[in-house]
Amino acid sequence: MADLRVLSTSEWAGAVADELAARLAARVAGRLVLPTGDTPAPLYAEIVARANGGSLSLAETELILLDEYVGLEPGDPARCDAQLRAELVDRLPTPRPRFRAIPVDTLTPEVAAAAHDATAAAGIDIALVGLGRNGHVGFNEPGSTADSPTRVVELTDESIAAAVGYGAHGRPTHGITLGLSRLLQASEIWLLVTGAHKAEVLRTALEGPETPVCPASYLRRHPRLVVWADELAAL
Ligand code: GLP
Repeated sequence: MADLRVLSTSEWAGAVADELAARLAARVAGRLVLPTGDTPAPLYAEIVARANGGSLSLAETELILLDEYVGLEPGDPARCDAQLRAELVDRLPTPRPRFRAIPVDTLTPEVAAAAHDATAAAGIDIALVGLGRNGHVGFNEPGSTADSPTRVVELTDESIAAAVGYGAHGRPTHGITLGLSRLLQASEIWLLVTGAHKAEVLRTALEGPETPVCPASYLRRHPRLVVWADELAAL
């Protein structure tokens, strides 16, 4: 059973940040997997504000990127590493956390995926993930199963369109994602879901059958799944 927390939209980021701050204080959030996209943006703004105000510190954490495009130049605004740096990492006070991007610029995609999987295999305290409108988690697109490994994937049209929406200078066709199997090994999984446009897929993920049609449905297998939904997504 997922632990479903429903917050008003205005309180959502603060509530997730409160719980993260508690985990950080208890030293059980040293290694975090982090997603990009629109959903976590207010959470990252909240974390940055608290970190610069001194009420929360990520200084001793290791931040592991959830997924990345293949084929976009370094610094492309749509790149997941560029987004996470711009919204979070580069805005934190020093000393900054260790940021583990996916090494797509220096290694072939397959070798980069294997290297990143090894990084994650060292341990994940909390895997924070978003939810795609088609039920994807990271780039575990429909067709992915609970045993899907970290790998190079072909992107769906929806994910390619999302990249273009984030201002990509090219049109990526592939990505690298931590696999569902790796994410399910985290001590906790936090599924971040906001907005009325996610209501239907959230209901399918939580109440429908476990199926590759909706890869997020497999997250329910995790004994410590916390779903952070705002009131619009939880309808
Ligand atoms: C993208 C990202 C994921 C993200 C998901 C949801 O494909 N690669 O990491 O979780 O889409 O994005 P959004 O929060 O913008 O809806």
